[in-house]
Amino acid sequence: MAERVVMMDESGERNPYLLGVYAPVQAEVTADELTVIGRIPADLNGVYLRNGPNARHPVKGRYHWFDGDGMVHAVHFENGRARYRNRWVRTRAFEAESAAGKALWTGVMENPEGNPFGNARGLPYKDTANTDVIFHRGRVLASWYLCGTPYSLDPLSLETLGADTFLDTLNGDFMAHPKVDERTGELFWFDYGPRPPYLRYGVVGRSGTVEHRVELDLPGARLPHDMAITENHAILMDLPLYQDLDAARHGRYKLTFDRELPSRFGVIARRGHQVRWFDAKPCYIYHVVNAWEEGEEIVLDVCRVSRPAPHGAGSPLSRMISYLKLDARMYRYRFDLRTGRTSEEYVDADHNTEFPSIDARSTGYRTRYAYNVSVADAETNLFDGLVRYDNVTGAKETWSYGPGVYGSEAPFAPRDGSTGEDDGYLVSFVTDAAADRSEVQILDASRISDGPVARVLLPQRVPLGFHATWIRSEQLR
Ligand SMILES: [Fe+2]
Repeated sequence: MAERVVMMDESGERNPYLLGVYAPVQAEVTADELTVIGRIPADLNGVYLRNGPNARHPVKGRYHWFDGDGMVHAVHFENGRARYRNRWVRTRAFEAESAAGKALWTGVMENPEGNPFGNARGLPYKDTANTDVIFHRGRVLASWYLCGTPYSLDPLSLETLGADTFLDTLNGDFMAHPKVDERTGELFWFDYGPRPPYLRYGVVGRSGTVEHRVELDLPGARLPHDMAITENHAILMDLPLYQDLDAARHGRYKLTFDRELPSRFGVIARRGHQVRWFDAKPCYIYHVVNAWEEGEEIVLDVCRVSRPAPHGAGSPLSRMISYLKLDARMYRYRFDLRTGRTSEEYVDADHNTEFPSIDARSTGYRTRYAYNVSVADAETNLFDGLVRYDNVTGAKETWSYGPGVYGSEAPFAPRDGSTGEDDGYLVSFVTDAAADRSEVQILDASRISDGPVARVLLPQRVPLGFHATWIRSEQLR
């Protein structure tokens, strides 16, 4: 077990997102011999990758969970064996700080004046590439939630291959959660920023270059986090949560939720120029589950946050913790392309679930199952189990990790020869807080309540983090 490093930020306050299960690790490990409890299924072949924040240097100013340098942890499963490694993403900012031997950027809780450089739109924060990992055209793209440069990684060695601008055609920034249609090979993305054009949408085609790009008109700067695709459309969001411009003028990062404004969903033909907007009740949405077409209707499933603003005042640290705490419900929209009307309803009004995953082979097409994490009732974001939703029967199946044990986003990993959306496994890093140890758990996606079929013990703790993906072995060839 690597030595535990506890890092403080310069406020001197006890920041929970730098401690315990969140505390950054300092070692980049390669481990080919791992202890397995149970048996790794022989038909589970591919790579599980997960990105997350992991500060390399003592933090400059106050620390926000979203500030840490991107680190990818991966487990490669092959013929019943597993290998683990973790690597930082070598972004331009990471390299600059490595050369200086210290942090040069402050995070989003500080005035960014004096930061060396920002993203393509000039947003003056450190592009950490810490948010998601997306597999497209043979390489993994590490993305950043405030929109940055995609960094490509080798899916097995995790070596950073460099900034990846789609053969020099990106000409801008790239959001956290682009969507890949595996059937067409296309990748759909947007970028947003504090100045017009507030939103740009684009398509990377089979050529590997940006083949379509359009600027979209919004009433002001917004903070969209995710998008959706269907067979013929893309869906973008204008949600009434935005940066307070007065605060921004004074170098402060503050968000406002305007309950008087609707949520708006923009439906655009995949390579179209005109957006059709559908109004809905005000909310915020971090993550889309999936979307698809049913006749003249578009169905969009999301994890919906009904009250995105924190309650009351408090110190910057307590406001940050309050803002970050996920409180979302599975929710369904239907947009009627004939009438322009929206209908909306809870799929599950009771259970706080987030970080959804589906069978990625069907992104944009009708799916039956969603696999979400259960968000624990705690001060910080902790995922205490998994929930499987069945769209057809309405059934919900759950698995709980047990007291003090927390998981990650758990992508669906089809087994070799998989014929369906639950014909495979869910794979997740799981951390025991008291033992300060992590492992990978493999669950049968069709029977998650049976618990793990195998557990792979890891040589170091994997700090709780953000998004994960599964790459099938045939995609690696
Ligand atoms: Fe996200």
